[in-house]
Amino acid sequence: MVARRLADESVQPARFAFNAENARWAERTMGLYPTGRQQSAVIPLLMRAQDQEGWISRATIESIADMLGMAYIRVLEVATFYTQFQLQPVGTRAHIQVCGTTPCMLRGSEALIEVCKSKIHPEQRHTNADGTMSWEEVECLGACVNAPMVAIFHDTYEDLTTERFEEIVDAFAAGQGASIKAGPQIERQHSAAEGGRTTLNEPPTAKREKFVPPAPAAEAGAPAGAAPAAAPAPAAPQAPTTAAKPRDVNEDSAPAFKGPAPQGKVSQAKAEGERKEFDREAKADGQPNRAMRPDATGAETDASKIDGGKAPGKQSRSGAADGAAGGGTQPDAQKAESTTGTTVVDTKELSGADAAAVDAAAKKPVRRRKPKSEDLKPTVEHGGDISNDDKSE
Ligand code: FES
Repeated sequence: MVARRLADESVQPARFAFNAENARWAERTMGLYPTGRQQSAVIPLLMRAQDQEGWISRATIESIADMLGMAYIRVLEVATFYTQFQLQPVGTRAHIQVCGTTPCMLRGSEALIEVCKSKIHPEQRHTNADGTMSWEEVECLGACVNAPMVAIFHDTYEDLTTERFEEIVDAFAAGQGASIKAGPQIERQHSAAEGGRTTLNEPPTAKREKFVPPAPAAEAGAPAGAAPAAAPAPAAPQAPTTAAKPRDVNEDSAPAFKGPAPQGKVSQAKAEGERKEFDREAKADGQPNRAMRPDATGAETDASKIDGGKAPGKQSRSGAADGAAGGGTQPDAQKAESTTGTTVVDTKELSGADAAAVDAAAKKPVRRRKPKSEDLKPTVEHGGDISNDDKSE
């Protein structure tokens, strides 16, 4: 690779201009790019100028730079970078670029260069005596698989031997270059294996036919060969189902949503009225209202009648004795818990009849009701055995 510089001033033309056809082509090419991006057409225009003149001169570079609105140095950088642009006059019938990179060198490129030296000029980038042929060594041209190879203008000639290359040079020198087939010079298809086809040698026999789907199976019981039944008529449109949609929930469709029964509501209102009435009475006399509802249960018995008012609502184990004492203990009766848990009532301050009744009740043994069989059922639900004590009771 050598430094690429413009040709000597002695061979530089004074000016450059595209011919009419190429000028129209250049205008059309620059119009392909967005406004302000016309410099993107620099490579196509340089190549078109080289096709017209044979090489790129200083005048060509400056003319194209003016057309594209570019600095001269910018176009010079492009022209000197790519080896496809020739910076000095070349042969008018052929300029041969010989690839000298490793694959082509290993396959005989050096022998091709010797042919160029002997048939064209001993030094590259020099034309022959009549100015029709020139040659140069270049780097890889991208056809390594078909090495060695050369490029002549826009075509490549590959799989070269020394003999075949000499025939090609002679043909171009005689102005018969168009008779040479471009590409591989041996029996090779493009970059395929050398020597022609090595696999799939048989000509293809399969036919590509349009796929036709099979007819639908005939109805069971239909006679063989019978014409297929007519296609069913399209079903009438159906209203969208609402099965998955939630229904309106109200007290009629969902009883669980119903509130308390009307009579229950009346009872609550009645109870609230009673409570307010009791509060008014309590506030009237300044004393807590201890009145009980007429239908109150035993647990709501007048507190003053149970354990002297100390444990209202709590039933003591001496309930039998209390009951035997004529409906309850006396308010001022003293009592104490014995070691057996029974309540001992002091009868000294009771009247004679009451004291006798209390004594008789105290002597009477307390008998507990023997549980019935259904009373034991809840115990059995937990899987535990019924103890003998439970059974005895
Ligand atoms: S090395 Fe010659 S074409 Fe790539």
